[in-house]
Amino acid sequence: MSSIIEDLIARKIFNSRGEETIEVDVITTNGFGRASAPAGKSRGKTEVVYYPQGGVDAALKKIDDLIAPELAGLNADFQEEIDNTLHEIDGTNNFKAIGGNTAFAISLANAEAAANSHGLLLFQFLGGNTATTLPYPLGNCISGGQHAHGKAPDIQEFLALPHGAETFLEAAAANALIHKKIGDALKKKSTTFSGGKSDEGAWIANISDTDAFETIAKACEEAGNEMDFECTFGIDVAASSLWKEKEQKYIYEREGKKRDTAQQLEYLLDITEKYHPAYIEDPFHEEDYESFAELTKKAKNTVICGDDIFTTNNERLNHGIKQKAANAIIIKVNQIGTLTDAAETIETAQKNSYTPIISHRSGDTCDWHIAHLAVAYRCPIIKTGIVEGARVAKINELIRIEHFLGNRAEMAQIKTL
Ligand code: PGA
Ligand code: ZN
Repeated sequence: MSSIIEDLIARKIFNSRGEETIEVDVITTNGFGRASAPAGKSRGKTEVVYYPQGGVDAALKKIDDLIAPELAGLNADFQEEIDNTLHEIDGTNNFKAIGGNTAFAISLANAEAAANSHGLLLFQFLGGNTATTLPYPLGNCISGGQHAHGKAPDIQEFLALPHGAETFLEAAAANALIHKKIGDALKKKSTTFSGGKSDEGAWIANISDTDAFETIAKACEEAGNEMDFECTFGIDVAASSLWKEKEQKYIYEREGKKRDTAQQLEYLLDITEKYHPAYIEDPFHEEDYESFAELTKKAKNTVICGDDIFTTNNERLNHGIKQKAANAIIIKVNQIGTLTDAAETIETAQKNSYTPIISHRSGDTCDWHIAHLAVAYRCPIIKTGIVEGARVAKINELIRIEHFLGNRAEMAQIKTL
């Protein structure tokens, strides 16, 4: 079977927010792969640049003029060589010249084309025969912060994590049940609730953080009783969005409170004691490794996860490891650009007992590749929404993978819990 690249075909499509994005087809002598890039709204400052100047149109031109001729004739099986070539063509350290999303779409489409050339599914091709472990779905239920408008919780995400489920299908069913229960509860709780949802399919309601904690905790408890396994929940504070550098404080606008770093730590420890969240993402702003370490030490049995602080960047993760900041890392391939870069960061995480959590972006497409990456790279958690097409695309692909694996499939272990 030959996986020699014959051509790249790139086009402009739209993501779930209706923003322009890039889709790339990689055609090999024997196979075909297609991938499209997502986009974040609460981005980390150290993410790569998504597009060259001129946006998606400029990226398409770079592919036609520069990248396709360079990649033609290379073997798609050698992902590292393809990704290194993308770095070389770009020539900067943040994909400013060709765009990180351009690199992302080519890199993923290439991996898919290589798998397809060998008659394999992507997770088999990348993960081999022993890639049989399914991740737990961490699903957004209530949106706030930068993911909502008007009066909504200050914390960006309240997420369900059904970590007692014995199969992925059951876990996905539990998340759907929790999401529904929360919708029903919000109808009763808030007279202004009109059933609105965010980009990620999570409910948006005029409720406080405290209300959101109470609502999700109750829904998880009820769902857990009905499903007969443990359903927990977590939050993404997305604290960089709350942090005001000038004041050196976290601004909780809806709540009308400002918290300095010590108060933020105290607040999160109080929450941990009161509601027992299993998962806390970005509790402090993206440069505060020290406070991340402090919370990781004090909040026992909690997944403390870094997203904006690490931006899937191996160097930043290594710095975090030295400081003992967090015990988990969000992996968003388009924060760093290529599959090879992301795989390196995942390897560093695993070697140092950090849980890698593969994640969607708030603006996403129906591209389901991260489902395969979760299984191939043994990520115990996948962060994606529960409803909305781009989210369900990933969930349903994992259901297919589980079905395909049959009795070889098993659920992952989440170290910290
Ligand atoms: P995004 O962020 O809007 O940048 O995708 C989601 C998140 O903070 O996890
Ligand atoms: Zn985040």
